[in-house]
Formats: sequence, C-alpha cells, structure tokens
Amino acid sequence: MRKIQINIASDKKSYPIFVGSGILDAITKFDLYSYSKIVVITDTHIENLFLKKIVPYFPQNISTIIIPCGERAKSITCILEIWRQLLEIGCDRKSLVINIGGGVIGDMGGFAASTFMRGLDFLQIPTTLLAQVDSSIGGKTGINFLGVKNLIGVFRQPIGVMCDVSVLESLSDRILTEGFGEVIKHGAIADRSYFNFVTSKKPKEFSQKELSKVVSGSIEIKKCIVEEDVTEKDRRRLVNFGHTIGHALESLSLESGSPLLHGEAVSIGMIAEGKISVLKNILKQEDLETITKALEHAGLPTKAQNIDHKKVMEKIKSDKKSERGIVYFTLLSGIGTCQTGQEVSDQNIKKALEFVAS
Ligand SMILES: NC(=O)c1ccc[n+]([C@@H]2O[C@H](COP(=O)([O-])OP(=O)(O)OC[C@H]3O[C@@H](n4cnc5c(N)ncnc54)[C@H](O)[C@@H]3O)[C@@H](O)[C@H]2O)c1
Ligand SMILES: [Zn+2]
Repeated sequence: MRKIQINIASDKKSYPIFVGSGILDAITKFDLYSYSKIVVITDTHIENLFLKKIVPYFPQNISTIIIPCGERAKSITCILEIWRQLLEIGCDRKSLVINIGGGVIGDMGGFAASTFMRGLDFLQIPTTLLAQVDSSIGGKTGINFLGVKNLIGVFRQPIGVMCDVSVLESLSDRILTEGFGEVIKHGAIADRSYFNFVTSKKPKEFSQKELSKVVSGSIEIKKCIVEEDVTEKDRRRLVNFGHTIGHALESLSLESGSPLLHGEAVSIGMIAEGKISVLKNILKQEDLETITKALEHAGLPTKAQNIDHKKVMEKIKSDKKSERGIVYFTLLSGIGTCQTGQEVSDQNIKKALEFVAS
C-alpha cells in the first residue's frame, strides 16, 4: 500500500491518501473512535456491492444515507434530503461523514458534510477510477444547479482518502474507460511519460498492480497542482483542460435522452480545446493527432452528436471559469505542458465545435 500525503499550507491541513489493492482495512488508520457518530453516504448500487464488506472495519455502529445513482442525483433536492437525515440521525459537530462511491457521491456527500453545522469532517472512499484519480483529490465539493455543472459548492479538504483498486473490478467497461478520460488528461497537461504509460494499453488490459500505478501517478500530478493553488486562482486551472467545452456538452447531454458520462464529455472537450490550441498556434497538429488516437484507443468518444452551437455557447458563458463575461480556457502547448488563462474568440470556439461534430 502506498501513502501519499497532501499538504494544504493555506488551510494548515495535511491528510493521507492510501492507494493499493485490498486495502479497505486501512480505515482503521483513522481515529474513528474520536467521533460521536459515523454516517456513511453511498448510492443504491454501492450499498449492494460493498457496504457489507467494509462495515466490519468500523469500530462502532454506523448510520447510512442511501441516495439514487447517477449524475442527475447531484442536486439540491438530494442535498436537502441528506441534511434532513443528518439531523434526524442526531449528528453533531463531532460526527464523521464517510462517502463511499463515485464522483457524484464524493462531490455531493463532501458538500453536504462541509455545509452541515458549518462543516463536519469527512473521509472519501472513491469506488470509480474517475473518483480515485481525480474527484476525491483536492477538496472540491458541490452540486449541479439549474443545468450548470458544479455551480454550487465549496472547497473543503477531507480527513483522508482511501483508493482501493480492487473495488474497480466490478465497474462496467464504460465506467472504467470513462476514468481514463481524466487519467489521459493528467498526462496531457503535466507529464509526457505518464501519458505514454497510461495510453500504452486499453483500460481493461491494465493489471491491478498497474492500475495502482495509474491511480497513484494521477494523484501525484494532481497533488502538485492542488498544493500550490488549492482554491484555483491560477495553477489549478491546469486541470480544467477539456472541461470548458466538456462541461457544456455534459450538461446538454443530461437534458437530452442520452447523457454523456463526465469522462466521456471531457474526452470530447479535450479534442475541441486541443483544436483551439492548434488554431491559436500553440499546439502542433501532430500532438493533437496523438491525443486523439490515444483517446480512441482507450475507447473514449472524440466526436459529439447533435451539437447545438448556440446552446453550447450559452452553457460555456455560464461556466464558473468565466470572469466578467470572458471565458478563460486552459490550452495545451504540447503533450505534458499547457497554459492557463487563454482568451478564445467565439469564432474559434465555433470552429472547434464543428471539428468535434460527428
Ligand atoms: N470534485 C472534483 O474535483 C471532480 C473532478 C472530476 C469529476 N468530478 C465529478 O465526478 C462525477 C463523475 O463521477 P463518476 O464518473 O465516478 O460517476 P458516478 O459517481 O456517477 O458513478 C458512476 C456509476 O458507477 C457506479 N459505481 C461506483 N463504483 C462502482 C464500483 N466499484 N463497481 C460498480 N459500479 C460502481 C455508481 O453507482 C454509478 O452508478 C461528476 O459529477 C463530475 O463532475 C468532480
Ligand atoms: Zn473532470
């Protein structure tokens, strides 16, 4: 088992991330006895898959809050229900929330815990690849609101994160592959050799041992970025590559009958924003081709169906990354390097959307 320590100097906070296979017993490394109550937040799917496996490691009785699966649940309605149940369970400020699930549970459970009684401690146990490599790391919590992704939320760090790659075995191919959207993004923005490693095989071909390396490699990349800029004033914007257009496509697809998964939307977003990088002469065409081939080899989409340009533009303008009406993009300048704070004309966004339209 590997232990990666995250140090957030501005919050005077430091916490461990444990990574390995079959490490659920690592939960005993946290001082669970010091809490008045432990509440597990999870979804209906994980409840059936894992809850029984992890419960024996808890030193005391736990309460559970079970919410529906999927992105649509990441809403204020669910938050109201979680707050209601936290109150009903009798939580006080010494209670601990443990979020077990994918990025939706981590983001939403983290937000509910961060706001209840001005903030309870919470522990993240991510169970999808995407949640292990990305969403559980760095303390961004939140929900979607009025059709805008992650519009409401807070930055608050967990007391720890446990990434057990053995739990990824039960993921469907589509959800495992989706996680590679963020994994490949980490390589593309920060580390060419990691990019080469994670694109050397198809997602399903990585062994458990290799997956541990994939997960810890991504965490190391995100750790360096987050430790320098926890509240996304500058450097943390690096991780937004692919997300400005990606989030717009994801939100619109949720309103349609065939929702894209987050990592899939980010994959298409990376190609669109990679195209903008080429149009602005900061990325070579051949690098964009390498990234496109890598995403396609992993089984990720690089084209989107039925793009409504006007609606995508509206979503982009309501994105959190817009300031005084201007949307700033993170663009690639090579595989392993990128630049934040890039202004992009509407014309170039339109060209990029035409490029990814199937
Ligand atoms: N906070 C951040 O920094 C950050 C970063 C990236 C993504 N995100 C957010 O993460 C969310 C996407 O997360 P996700 O991709 O994990 O989706 P998800 O949370 O919706 O999980 C996908 C599905 O997988 C199921 N599942 C979870 N673990 C499983 C397992 N081990 N075996 C079988 N099934 C399992 C879940 O029940 C769910 O149905 C998005 O809302 C996105 O905005 C947040
Ligand atoms: Zn993402």
